[in-house]
Amino acid sequence: MTTCSAPGKVYLFGEHAVVYGEPAVPCAVERRARVTAEPRDDDRVRVSADDLSLNGFTVTWGGGVDDRPDVDAPPALVEAAMRYVDEAVAQTRDALDDPEQGFEITVESDIPLGAGLGSSAAVVVAAIKAATAAVGVDLSAEAVAERAFRAEYAAQDGQASRADTFCSAVGGAVHVEGDDTRRVDAPRLPFVVGYDGGAGDTGELVAGVRDLREQHGFAADTVGAIGDLTRSGEALLDDAASDGLTDERLAALGELLDVDHGLLSALGVSARSLDEMVWAAREAGATGAKLTGAGGGGCVVALDRTDATETALELTPACERAFRAELATEGVRIESG
Ligand code: MEV
Repeated sequence: MTTCSAPGKVYLFGEHAVVYGEPAVPCAVERRARVTAEPRDDDRVRVSADDLSLNGFTVTWGGGVDDRPDVDAPPALVEAAMRYVDEAVAQTRDALDDPEQGFEITVESDIPLGAGLGSSAAVVVAAIKAATAAVGVDLSAEAVAERAFRAEYAAQDGQASRADTFCSAVGGAVHVEGDDTRRVDAPRLPFVVGYDGGAGDTGELVAGVRDLREQHGFAADTVGAIGDLTRSGEALLDDAASDGLTDERLAALGELLDVDHGLLSALGVSARSLDEMVWAAREAGATGAKLTGAGGGGCVVALDRTDATETALELTPACERAFRAELATEGVRIESG
């Protein structure tokens, strides 16, 4: 039996635009998904998920998509979760060159589901690492990232960038631009996260941006503008990593977060709750704030060295929970086994 964990992430810059080959800079944060895997003697896969910030569920199936049991959980949630698990199992079996290997899999996560913090990527990354390690195969973080990307790409009908899975696998701040994926130097940024208790549908939101981009020149320009802004942000991040995160640099990074949020709103992926949290953070003195991830609901990320933003978010009706998020310098790792 092997347990692995992988971190969630916030996007400093670049979500959605990254799907069209623009650069993005996600940063792994210390909120982890933990997956325990144990090989079975048959070809069945049993998944238990008791602690996913939602009702847990347990399912056993023979590995085929038509072979679904009745479970006591919202069908849409089970269906979505099972697509990721199916694809992670398929990638694991491929890595092992054994299409019939069965597993007992237990998933726990302190990353809210579908909220823009990379919960599905973290589960897929931790699952592939744990299941391969449980049968004695040691995949590097990069190999796990590649397989996790393929799993997420299949689960999201071909609408996924490498950003979430690569960031979760290798940890730290990363640059993703098409197939160009690498870690970048970053200072410890004072991230504050506000969570509205809801979730967005990544597939639907990505499809909405795609349609808008096909119909309107402004949307294609907006995607390009997010790319330009991300390049400026990366240059600032680099200066801050080598010469220190001065107040001026923090203010300049915050300003870019604000602009990024405005551009994402123009692409139609914000939500009233996200806008309310962004404004609460700004009014409390955050140097900048934006939605993180696909949008539609879920989380915002703000930069603030003081406690004022966290306190203000806690008092904002649209915010269910606020917390400080530390950069996770380590990506996927074996916890035991
Ligand atoms: C979702 O966390 C981030 C998006 O850019 C989609 C992706 O990169 O796969 C919206």
